[in-house]
Amino acid sequence: MWPGCTSVLGWLLLLQTVLRVAGGHPCDARDFGHGSPVCACNATYCDTLDPVALPAPGTYVKYESSKAGKRLERSEGSFQHNSWAPDFHLTLDTAQRYQKVKGFGGSVTDSAAINIQSLSKEAQERLLRSYFSEEGIEYNLVRVPMASTDFSVRLYTYADAEGDFELKHFNLTEEDTRMKIPILQAAQVVAKRPLSLYASPWTSPVWMKTNGAMTGRGTLKGSPGDKYHRTWAQYFIRFLDEYARHNLTFWAVTAGNEPTAGEIVFYPFQCLGFSPEHQRDFIARDLGPALANSSHRHVQLIILDDQRVMLPYWAQVVLRDPVAASYISGIGIHWYLDFLAPIDLTLSITHHLFPDYFLLSTEASTGSYFWEPRVVLGGWDRGSKYSHSILSVGLGGRRGPVGPGQPRSAP
Ligand SMILES: *[C@@H]1O[C@H](CO)[C@@H](O)[C@H](O)[C@H]1NC(C)=O
Ligand SMILES: *[C@@H]1O[C@H](CO)[C@@H](O)[C@H](O)[C@H]1NC(C)=O
Ligand SMILES: *[C@@H]1O[C@H](CO)[C@@H](O)[C@H](O)[C@H]1NC(C)=O
Ligand SMILES: *[C@@H]1O[C@H](CO)[C@@H](O)[C@H](O)[C@H]1NC(C)=O
Repeated sequence: MWPGCTSVLGWLLLLQTVLRVAGGHPCDARDFGHGSPVCACNATYCDTLDPVALPAPGTYVKYESSKAGKRLERSEGSFQHNSWAPDFHLTLDTAQRYQKVKGFGGSVTDSAAINIQSLSKEAQERLLRSYFSEEGIEYNLVRVPMASTDFSVRLYTYADAEGDFELKHFNLTEEDTRMKIPILQAAQVVAKRPLSLYASPWTSPVWMKTNGAMTGRGTLKGSPGDKYHRTWAQYFIRFLDEYARHNLTFWAVTAGNEPTAGEIVFYPFQCLGFSPEHQRDFIARDLGPALANSSHRHVQLIILDDQRVMLPYWAQVVLRDPVAASYISGIGIHWYLDFLAPIDLTLSITHHLFPDYFLLSTEASTGSYFWEPRVVLGGWDRGSKYSHSILSVGLGGRRGPVGPGQPRSAP
């Protein structure tokens, strides 16, 4: 919302924009021939922003990026009551509130960590400042994979010792202790406010699985309430315990990354299949009680963590069970099949059915199809896909409030 305006019905926005030279360092623009320049950073130089401050009442601050090369260019202007002004009316109804925005962020995957650590120490510091500090874009949400994912260079979990139901051999790996944890700690140091971390596992250890493999179609052996499910729930607790030893505490966990992927024969990367009924019963009997009975009882639990085309059905199956629902705070969505899933038919309906559960985009990644190039420096349309997704989910088809309600806490 524009600050400094309370119910400005009929006020006009007079485009009295003044460019103000910001104190931040400007973008060192380089063009790699993919549509738009990128800002180059190195060990001694990186573009920065001034910390964002609320402007005086009646004025606004605008940050503008453009394909042609503007990068968060700051300007100021003022609202004026003016009868001759042009036909541009800005009407704010401050009584009508829509969703709260939890924040914005990214994932600290193994591949992100490998790339970050390939830079010099000084360049790493500047990169983390660009993402997390007030002189950058202030990411405040970070997804942390539990063990390996399709963004890893090898397949592993934290409990690969066959039949280890007591998790006696549970251990983090060097990907955690030497890569992800130091990066997360450094990010927290440069961030002004505490980061909200959320964790997601891609697969359980293979000895717990029906197919005995990390990839391909398979789920947990046995059924909810048994030793496989109990152990898998304890694996989440052990993960949270181990990260807590490194001073990293979590805001949330998801019940598992893309549970429907594990229903697909020959699925090419780490997955663990769950139907909504199976996820419901696993949460009600195992994961929910394990979290509630641990020192991590304030960690929020997110269901689905998969394509929004599964909504509202997935939420109806899981959240209509009062026991499962009592442990759950929100619903995580991925963007890969959004073209099959109009917002009105998925998010809006889900929100109206379950207004107390937040909806959070937990994963989005451009260039994910095998025929697409992996890195496109200055590929403007990739940025545009993210902003379009963020704006359209935020507007929610304009039908009414969509998105996070009050976060719930598990009992
Ligand atoms: C780092 O970037 C700055 C600004 O573009 C440039 O002047 C400097 O030469 C670069 N340093 C190195 C080591 O490349
Ligand atoms: C656990 O993992 C860490 C880091 O990979 C390693 O240093 C340590 O020796 C392992 N501990 C056990 C008991 O395997
Ligand atoms: C965790 O934080 C405490 C208090 O700030 C500090 O004393 C301790 O060294 C930290 N531990 C680690 C592993 O960073
Ligand atoms: C709760 O935890 C305690 C000790 O950690 C354990 O003895 C007890 O069985 C647990 N209860 C449930 C319902 O998991």
